[in-house]
Amino acid sequence: MINKMVVFSYFFLCVGVLACSQREARREAQDSPASPEKKSIKIRKPQISGEELFQANCVSCHNKDARKLIGPGMAGITKRRKKEWIIAFIKNSQALMASGDKEAIALFDQYNKAVMTSFMFSNEEMEALYKYLETL
Ligand code: HEC
Repeated sequence: MINKMVVFSYFFLCVGVLACSQREARREAQDSPASPEKKSIKIRKPQISGEELFQANCVSCHNKDARKLIGPGMAGITKRRKKEWIIAFIKNSQALMASGDKEAIALFDQYNKAVMTSFMFSNEEMEALYKYLETL
């Protein structure tokens, strides 16, 4: 009688262990993706915001409105100047002056020859920044 009970409990113990290990195995199978596509992490490029670029790089010298700061206010800048000129100025205003650009030279004199920082933005960043300037 006692022997039977021992055999029975042993049997149930085995069934229990087996069931648990199977569940574990199933869970592992779910966790690890079956296909390589699932495994690869998609790195999405953060959207470059022109406003953020402006806030981070320009507000120390430029107001968003027409008021002067270190440099002229940016309100309506894209209506006053050509796109190529603005981009060239942001990239390197000194080079623009050296090329003999009269508007850049006049502005430089007007602003007490304060040299504006040159910015190495990517084309994408420059477009985003320009789009933001258009809104001012
Ligand atoms: C260290 C100060 C400084 C920073 C930073 C700066 N600028 Fe300027 N910016 C100037 C000054 C000063 C002028 C006036 C011209 C000169 O002195 O060269 C100017 C002129 C300009 C002009 C021509 C304005 C006009 O009326 O034609 C544009 C456009 C311009 N800046 C855009 C920017 C943008 C966009 C940024 C940020 C990416 C920026 N600037 C960052 C100082 C700065």
